[in-house]
Amino acid sequence: MITKVVKIDENNIDMEKIREAAKILKNGGLVAFPTETVYGLGANGLDADACRKIYETKGRPSDNPLILHIGRIEQLSQIVSEVPENAKKIMKEFWPGPITIIFKKKDIVPDSVSGHFGTVAVRFPSNIIARVLVWESGLPIAAPSANTSGKPSPTKAEHVLHDLNGKLDMIIDGGSCDFGLESTILDLSGEKAVLLRPGAVTKEMIENVIGEIDVDAAVYKKVTGDFAPKAPGMKYKHYSPDADVKLVKGESAKVTAKINELLADAKGKGLKTGVLATEETKALYNADFVLSAGHRNDEKEIGANLFDILREFDKLGADVVFSETFSYNGEGMAIMNRLNKAAGFECVQV
Ligand code: TXA
Ligand code: MG
Repeated sequence: MITKVVKIDENNIDMEKIREAAKILKNGGLVAFPTETVYGLGANGLDADACRKIYETKGRPSDNPLILHIGRIEQLSQIVSEVPENAKKIMKEFWPGPITIIFKKKDIVPDSVSGHFGTVAVRFPSNIIARVLVWESGLPIAAPSANTSGKPSPTKAEHVLHDLNGKLDMIIDGGSCDFGLESTILDLSGEKAVLLRPGAVTKEMIENVIGEIDVDAAVYKKVTGDFAPKAPGMKYKHYSPDADVKLVKGESAKVTAKINELLADAKGKGLKTGVLATEETKALYNADFVLSAGHRNDEKEIGANLFDILREFDKLGADVVFSETFSYNGEGMAIMNRLNKAAGFECVQV
């Protein structure tokens, strides 16, 4: 299959191209498109066969359900059987935007989309290209991140092309994603609200609207045999470059010293080394490749750069990458969740 790449300018949307993409979706094909979080791999969310193609294309485990994207709030009633009060408050505050809500589903949603939980994940993206495309298709669009399963999510069209070229019909190139980390996932289908995946809409922001919420254990620790995460996707190793990623945590000067010691060790073994550093520290490391994620206190910048940098280490051919860690405050919880997953939750404390 030839993958067509079309550029669309979000400030001047070419409806001709949108209609072409929407037609592919209506006919059961796959289109990757930008959102404010990461690029999505879209298919008709009501067509079980089209959704099966998503799983094949990504190499995604079949027990990992998909998020349905809507282009207008009115589409919600087609797929969801109940909208609890808390959900109304969250939608009013944060939709359209980078938060996915888990609802009880209607029968029209195929099990291949929603898994066998009787629930469905719904997202109303704020990115204008995503919204216009979904609306034009007239369908809820199932869209996981448009990467090969296990790799960092794509934040640029070139990342999608790298992973999936020849395996989908079209990629819409709408530039870099604003947030660069996948949406927050909040389960509102049960008695208690539970945060399943942290993102740009933070725990604090949610609690300001609906009061205290629970956090699923998979956000903080490696999933082992003794518990199952509520979002099946959280149990898989993710976001990992080919290089081994190791986190080093502690007071800044000690972290730098420890990483330099680990670098010397790794070099002694003939390994190509990388460091994921910050603007403040990038000059202090003696590695083959030092990449800065941004300014330490600018979580937005670090979040937006993280996946691109993890991919960059692969391009450079790093065998091992040592990374600084960040605070868990605000969006830091999402950044640390993705970094921990890239490192298999291995962290050296100094
Ligand atoms: O920002 C995002 O959410 C991006 C863009 C493209 O919208 N999409 C995305 O999709 O990250 P994906 O498939 O890579 O991650 C979806 C996560 C998985 O961890 C999956 O297990 C969980 O959502 N999920 C989907 N449906 C669920 C459900 N009914 N109950 C619990 N978890 C669910
Ligand atoms: Mg994903």
